[in-house]
Amino acid sequence: MAKIQSDTELETISIAEKLALLLKPGDVVTLEGELGSGKTTFTKGLAKGLGVKRNISSPTFTIIKEYEGEMPFYHMDVYRLENSEEDIGFDEYFHGNGITVVEWAHFIEEFLPEERLEISISYLNEDRRELELTPTGPHFKWVVNELMS
Ligand SMILES: Nc1ncnc2c1ncn2[C@@H]1O[C@H](COP(=O)(O)OP(=O)(O)OP(=O)(O)O)[C@@H](O)[C@H]1O
Ligand SMILES: [Mg+2]
Repeated sequence: MAKIQSDTELETISIAEKLALLLKPGDVVTLEGELGSGKTTFTKGLAKGLGVKRNISSPTFTIIKEYEGEMPFYHMDVYRLENSEEDIGFDEYFHGNGITVVEWAHFIEEFLPEERLEISISYLNEDRRELELTPTGPHFKWVVNELMS
């Protein structure tokens, strides 16, 4: 487990951008954290790092949004799937050729791949956040080591 402090929105974006450069097709990044902690902000940084040109919006009513960058980029916000056991074809995203980021991932815990990078964002004050990174499997452990070095 690794911890990174971010003091501004831009810093969160740049951490995510740096992370994006370490990811490979099929990777899954999960984001947890209270409302307004910065999950979508982090996602914008990932998209930027992957060369996505379109603006990332918060997919409030859409569970999954797809973007094109250097590879496909899937942005899920599964907040609305709380208490739902519905499988909306997650495997196609998780085992596909794109990178998937999932806000509120614990609501679809049973569908998540075992190997993933979990990021939990805590609100410290208005502009300060703490990001806690928990990698599963050798690839994501390597990713976190590189990010921290
Ligand atoms: N260090 C920081 N990192 C990220 N966001 C920050 C930071 N400081 C301030 N902010 C602000 O916090 C807000 C984060 O909003 P964002 O939509 O990213 O949160 P979220 O976790 O996706 O919320 P939701 O649960 O509603 O989806 C933005 O308004 C952003 O400008
Ligand atoms: Mg959000």
